[in-house]
Amino acid sequence: MTQPSGRLYGLGIGPGDPELLTLKAYRILKSVPVIAYPSLESGKVLARAIVADYLSDDKIEIPMPLPFSVERSSQPYYDIAAEKIAVHLSAGQDVAVLCEGDPFLYGSFMYIFNRLSARFPTEVVPGISSTLASAAALGVPITYRNDVLSIMPATLSAEILSDRLAVADAAVIIKLGRHFAKVRDVLKERGLWERALYIERATMPNQRIVPIAEVEPGEVPYWALILIPSQWKGEV
Ligand SMILES: C[S@@+](CC[C@H](N)C(=O)[O-])C[C@H]1O[C@@H](n2cnc3c(N)ncnc32)[C@H](O)[C@@H]1O
Repeated sequence: MTQPSGRLYGLGIGPGDPELLTLKAYRILKSVPVIAYPSLESGKVLARAIVADYLSDDKIEIPMPLPFSVERSSQPYYDIAAEKIAVHLSAGQDVAVLCEGDPFLYGSFMYIFNRLSARFPTEVVPGISSTLASAAALGVPITYRNDVLSIMPATLSAEILSDRLAVADAAVIIKLGRHFAKVRDVLKERGLWERALYIERATMPNQRIVPIAEVEPGEVPYWALILIPSQWKGEV
């Protein structure tokens, strides 16, 4: 008789505060024998750090080294990570891939999903996205009534960012890091600079909220975003 394969979980673990895991993510995290998580070449492993207090010593861990650099293709890294995970799934072990925020919203889990979900039973557990956690931390509603929200990566060109912002009532700009100065210039051109709010590492112990005009472009971390909330026009 062939061994039934294990189950692959894409586990949304929220934006940083360990209390922002869902009960379902917590239960699955406790029960699986194997976890995998992205690890930067610098050795930083944010997703693991979020759930560190919930991990037992007997858990098998698969760090997935990723370059996080536009200069190099991530494809070979995901190929290797997927095959390491597949070894455990083939042996009948469930594997949870930890994903900061939500797995299907700009999450690296999607690339593991695309490689393995046709071969193994797969379940995605949604997580609280950084976009939503940031609005809560900043204390601003994102959208009213018929407003349209756009989420866009700062890695887009200035022209595309500008075009997208022109038709959005509210916007969240992620993947900020070294793209901050470009985004700043676009926001100023579009007359959105005064409305823009900045936050770093939302819900983490080192969360930082500062007026956007005080942000030093060279010091913006990857874990930062800009929120442009909708404008309340006084109606109910
Ligand atoms: C690849 S995307 C992953 C988004 C994630 N799946 C989510 O649902 O939040 C990474 C970007 O999300 C934003 N981000 C993620 N966590 C954050 C946090 N705690 N505070 C601020 N921004 C965050 C940053 O802009 C970062 O560059």
